[in-house]
Amino acid sequence: TRNELILAIETSCDETSVSIVRGGREILTNLIASQIETHVQFGGVVPEIASRKHVESITILIEQAIVEAGVSLGDLSAIAVTQGPGLVGALLVGVVAAKSLAMALDLPLIATHHIAGHIYANQLVHEIKYPSVALVVSGGHTELVALESEGSFRIIGCTRDDAVGEAYDKVARALHLPYPGGPHIDRLAVEAEEEIMLPRAWLEPDSYDFSFSGLKSAVLSVINQANMRGQQLDESALARGFQASVIDVLVTKALRAVHAEGAQQLLLCGGVAANRGLRAALAARCEAEGIPLLVPPLSLCTDNAAMIGAAAHLKFKHGEFSTLNMKAEPVLSL
Ligand code: KG4
Ligand code: ZN
Repeated sequence: TRNELILAIETSCDETSVSIVRGGREILTNLIASQIETHVQFGGVVPEIASRKHVESITILIEQAIVEAGVSLGDLSAIAVTQGPGLVGALLVGVVAAKSLAMALDLPLIATHHIAGHIYANQLVHEIKYPSVALVVSGGHTELVALESEGSFRIIGCTRDDAVGEAYDKVARALHLPYPGGPHIDRLAVEAEEEIMLPRAWLEPDSYDFSFSGLKSAVLSVINQANMRGQQLDESALARGFQASVIDVLVTKALRAVHAEGAQQLLLCGGVAANRGLRAALAARCEAEGIPLLVPPLSLCTDNAAMIGAAAHLKFKHGEFSTLNMKAEPVLSL
């Protein structure tokens, strides 16, 4: 099982992506059509528009992927697709495309979990050792996952309200920064000279869960107070305070989980893994505690189909295939 070619499709949110991955590790092509340009005017992803855009792009991307990878349809070993979680109308487009291909080419169909994809993005560039712990941080997810062995997942903590990327985007919106706001807050925070201190949500002492809505409210109240008093707000100091609170909690809980699980590595993944402050803080703590930190390159941190191909390969090895009755699942446990 080293050379199978898996064609993978990802359409769970606002990126249409098609990839061909060989042997679960080698990316032959990873095409991504981002819809951000379309959604930016609405300040966030509009589900209806996302579905329509996926429909417009998917067939073109599949054809292009075959050409770019230099393979023929007959060389493919399986078709993989993100089954969920995500926007149901968006997922549906990928699922229907994948089923059609699987049926027409008489190939096995592999239903893949989006978060398994984010985690196994690491497999495309690193050697994962077990047991490990993964910190998944994206616009839709904030999870600490224990990986006891290949392909096994146990969620040990998750957000009780907003996902971390969602909190970034909401704070950015309150500061009138464009969508997606994460990178803008990150830049302001890194450039800031001052820091406005904000609370940290630790929750119960032994909890690995997260909460970011209180922090978001604290940010909004700082903004409102400045407005009411007619004061000039130091936006970068606020961004830095927000980012410091987020990072403090994420890093502390991730490292506590690593030790509790006896993990050999910490894997960071998801779109918020692009955050410079988070990467630097995790790298420093991991280095100090002798824990290898694995982070995929940025292009594999945000939504893409290569990560789905990598995760699907594990299922391929175990013969875990789906039937054509498989359905898109907006809510799906790992
Ligand atoms: O993984 P992803 O592409 O999509 C989801 O599956 O959600 O993550 C997108 C999220 C957005 O919320 C975006 O604001 C955030 O990742 N993000 C960042 C940074 N770059 C992207 N958040 C903080 N700092 C960044 N540098
Ligand atoms: Zn994602």
